[in-house]
Amino acid sequence: MNTYLITGGAGFIGSHLAERLLEAGERVTVLDDLSTGSWRNIAHLERNPNFRAIIASADDARLITDEMPRHSHVFHLASAVGVRLVVDRPVETVQRIVRTTDVIVEAAARYRRPVLLTSTSEVYGKLNDVPFREDSDTIMGATSKRRWAYACAKALDEFLLLAHHAQTSLPVFIVRLFNTVGVRQSGQYGMVLPSFIEAARRGEPLQVFGNGEQTRCFCSVHDVVGGLIKIMNCPNAVGKVVNLGSQEEISIKSLAELVIGVTNSKSKIIYKTYQDAYGNGFDDMLRRVPCLQRAGELINWKPTKKLEEIIREIYENGSTS
Ligand SMILES: NC(=O)c1ccc[n+]([C@@H]2O[C@H](COP(=O)([O-])OP(=O)(O)OC[C@H]3O[C@@H](n4cnc5c(N)ncnc54)[C@H](O)[C@@H]3O)[C@@H](O)[C@H]2O)c1
Repeated sequence: MNTYLITGGAGFIGSHLAERLLEAGERVTVLDDLSTGSWRNIAHLERNPNFRAIIASADDARLITDEMPRHSHVFHLASAVGVRLVVDRPVETVQRIVRTTDVIVEAAARYRRPVLLTSTSEVYGKLNDVPFREDSDTIMGATSKRRWAYACAKALDEFLLLAHHAQTSLPVFIVRLFNTVGVRQSGQYGMVLPSFIEAARRGEPLQVFGNGEQTRCFCSVHDVVGGLIKIMNCPNAVGKVVNLGSQEEISIKSLAELVIGVTNSKSKIIYKTYQDAYGNGFDDMLRRVPCLQRAGELINWKPTKKLEEIIREIYENGSTS
């Protein structure tokens, strides 16, 4: 039996990951400061004797140094997330990402624990050449556009893990997640699908930012957590960056129409400029599609759930915001 430390484990993806590991008979400690996560996401796990929760910040070096030797593996998910939060709270965004990862990786290095970082497709920046391959150059936007702080901070996290791997062969894994969706995701911090579904549920307008022609690919959290666990257990993935996400590309306008259709809602679609939605600190990219060749070769992974099915599952599970 392994003992996993999941930072950010009370969040959307972390709580599904904790659940999956516990189902497999593993021991899990969730460490979360509940900044964007919620106790509700993990309350149902408390009865499991293999589950522990620590409500604290993952940048608490003393706590992490104490906890690290009790765990065999670390899934490091704790991060500032969501475009809304990144634009509104830029200092917190950078500190929460970079500081926390530094503390976690330093302790993992001290005790030689494998650590997996959930990075993001945002690291590709404004690259237009889809599908994005892990070794592609990235095209970052201007530092005056606050949204790029998230991408740059996550890229710095990646550099830090890869540096530990290069210097001391620390077993590190970096997963660049593309839009991940499912039950328990909150729309509060700027995530598009839960916002659309909640608006449709209430019969309120679905707000599309820009002209809605920008496309994204949405992957089920169930597929993603399966991929994360497989990567952590794949020796050939050590020291590598791996994309995980769906290749089912859809424009945001079509996504809004699909949500209205699946939920049988009377909501209308309205358009808002980026400027009105986010002010000056914003910039967007037109397309984001992962190349999944590496994930296929390393862990034989591909997504299984269709978007329509995911939307129905979220809708039927009730309100999350
Ligand atoms: N959901 C997506 O589409 C997506 C896409 C790309 C990357 N990611 C990455 O996946 C990870 C999980 O994201 P999510 O969508 O589940 O978001 P989430 O907000 O639900 O989860 C993040 C969790 O981290 C916690 N947290 C933040 N800072 C912390 C700190 N210093 N100490 C302890 N806990 C802290 C939050 O309370 C929250 O529970 C993040 O690293 C994010 O960058 C997510």
